[in-house]
Amino acid sequence: MAWSATPAPRVDEDPNARAARIEAQLSDDERLSLLMGIITVPGSSKKLPLPAGVPSVAGYVPGVPRLGIPPQLATDAGLGVTNPSDGRPGDKATALPSGLAMAAGFDPALVERLGAMVALEARSRGFNILLGGGMNLARDPRNGRNFEYLGEDPWLAGQLAGHAIRGSQSQGVVSTIKHFALNAQETQRQTLDARIDPDALRESELLAFQIGIEIGQPGAVMCAYNRVNGEPACGHAGLLNGVLKGDWGYKGWVMSDWGAVGSAEHILAGLDQQAGSQWDREFWFGQPLRERLAAGTVPRARVSDAVRRILRSLYAVGADQIPSPLPAVDLQVHAQLALEAARAGIVLLKNDGLLPLADGPQRILVVGGHADFGVMTGGGSSQVTPSNGAPRLIDVGGDGGLAVYARQSILPGSPLAALRQALPGATIGFQNGYSVDTALAHAAQADLVVVFATKWEGEGLDSGSLALPQGQDELIGRLAQVHRRVVVVLETGNPVTMPWLGQVGAVVQAWYPGQGGGQAIADVLSGRVNPSGRLPVSFPQSLAQTPRDALIPGLGQPYRTPATVHYREGAEAGYRWHARSGQPPLFAFGHGLSYTRFSHDTPQIRREPDLSMSVAVRNTGERDGNDVPQAYLVARNGQPLQRLVGFQKLALKPGEQATATLRIDPRLLADFRDGGWQLPAGRYEFAVGHSAGELGPRVAIDLPQRRWRP
Ligand code: BGC
Repeated sequence: MAWSATPAPRVDEDPNARAARIEAQLSDDERLSLLMGIITVPGSSKKLPLPAGVPSVAGYVPGVPRLGIPPQLATDAGLGVTNPSDGRPGDKATALPSGLAMAAGFDPALVERLGAMVALEARSRGFNILLGGGMNLARDPRNGRNFEYLGEDPWLAGQLAGHAIRGSQSQGVVSTIKHFALNAQETQRQTLDARIDPDALRESELLAFQIGIEIGQPGAVMCAYNRVNGEPACGHAGLLNGVLKGDWGYKGWVMSDWGAVGSAEHILAGLDQQAGSQWDREFWFGQPLRERLAAGTVPRARVSDAVRRILRSLYAVGADQIPSPLPAVDLQVHAQLALEAARAGIVLLKNDGLLPLADGPQRILVVGGHADFGVMTGGGSSQVTPSNGAPRLIDVGGDGGLAVYARQSILPGSPLAALRQALPGATIGFQNGYSVDTALAHAAQADLVVVFATKWEGEGLDSGSLALPQGQDELIGRLAQVHRRVVVVLETGNPVTMPWLGQVGAVVQAWYPGQGGGQAIADVLSGRVNPSGRLPVSFPQSLAQTPRDALIPGLGQPYRTPATVHYREGAEAGYRWHARSGQPPLFAFGHGLSYTRFSHDTPQIRREPDLSMSVAVRNTGERDGNDVPQAYLVARNGQPLQRLVGFQKLALKPGEQATATLRIDPRLLADFRDGGWQLPAGRYEFAVGHSAGELGPRVAIDLPQRRWRP
């Protein structure tokens, strides 16, 4: 059976009018009750007895039955519906690949279907809010949560987040977009001051949010833990009242992150709801807000506005209509979608002709990475209990506020077993890689070695370096010294360094590929699937090539030690930083090989009806494959710079040609200055290529000066 979304709930009355009508009938107590949420996961609420009859969820806000206002039941959902601490015993869901893996598909339409799938699974449980839309731009390849997000580029991340949210909200649930803004490291996230030039912020992460919000129309924006230029993100009047609700005219509500509220006055800065309130020092939006309302220091109009924003977002997508009976979900069908996503996200980084592996009488040794069992996942609130069996859980221990997440979860679905099935003619052995010398002894008997390397990362935990942990670099390096034919498969949440790169024959980046990952990896290795993923982040040669190579600020200090990070690169992060510094990365943003070849013609550029580029793409190889032509701005008035301005995924048969037409959003060409976008007059040069590091001939166009408000 093909996957299909359910029809969207009917929304008859204008949601704004209905929200105003219902809000006017509420008492003040009822109003305030809608502005504060709690977490109902057993064991996570020491301050409060949990309400009876409420399922275990990350976020719960009681409804107002007399006016048909439903309870708000919010689940984490970026990579699938979660079930933290098994609070709903035995409740399993489809575990999607990590955000970076989904982003590597460069495929907004696929991400939209995945968003709808997750939302349907949430709705089938009666949940009506998804804490999805995670999209903080990757600024530091050590950030432990990069795996949840969508890479380093504002256009790519904004498009993908917007489409994921659009898919989710088509199923009658609200989705958030998060974490607003600049939550780009985990270390000391609750005490961190993230500092950046405000205009550069508009051109980078805020532009990504703006695009995501325009496309997805998320019902809620989740503000971040950290401070931005000195102000707490959840009490940041400039960001919330100013940019989000003012400049962008955002109509939904601002929900706090769990434990990110520092005072009741945050409501005056634009925060509408205190979520996960037990994790804050006070139930700020309870009694303290009631007192301020009575004293008149918080105007009633502000409270009413906050309530209306929540109601209109619920009504706008039909999230007030909890269906009865709840819709059924076919987890088998969803597992196929998870497999499709995993296949689409795998990036072939290097191939000296070792891949695809031919079937036939040969001895293959698979080493390490739990390949006999399954695939790595990232830890934290996004962790899904997969539908395809019990994970292998490895407690890694630890202390501090996020010790609860210190557990590796290896999802079932063995790449080794899938490879054995795909290559029945080969003899495939396995070594766990625990002892390098034992692995070497076995490798000496093999015709080819496939090493699986993993790096577990997670919420609350940044990496100290880009190295693979636990001796895996040594394992790969020594195997490559003694064996000419070594393939490396990486299951990591971030770029890693590869000191052994020159000695191995192929490298496959599988990220955290989700519950279909084992099969998808075997499909790519065996050539059943032609890889088509592209890197949504640059892979630097070393930290020295990034804007910050010192230790992550605050790393090693006690939990909640104040720290400051300076994003001195401004909007020039990732591939833009490499372009500016002239230092080629290990693998460029947008890079990804295929088992076929693609050629690009010289692009055409047009002014009318909108500024756009088109490029003819041909599959010049022997296999079906997908290409992702990418267009970049490469110079403005002779000044070199680099900005992705468009991409499109094309499926082509051998010899087939198609044309990608890419409309160029003028914000990608402009600067943010004096409260608006400014496009300097002059010559704009563009190039289309296979990655930010492999570009074709330039085309230029002269554009007149323009200014416009955000
Ligand atoms: C995370 C959010 C998540 C929330 C609820 C927080 O710690 O930062 O992304 O939605 O918890 O689980």
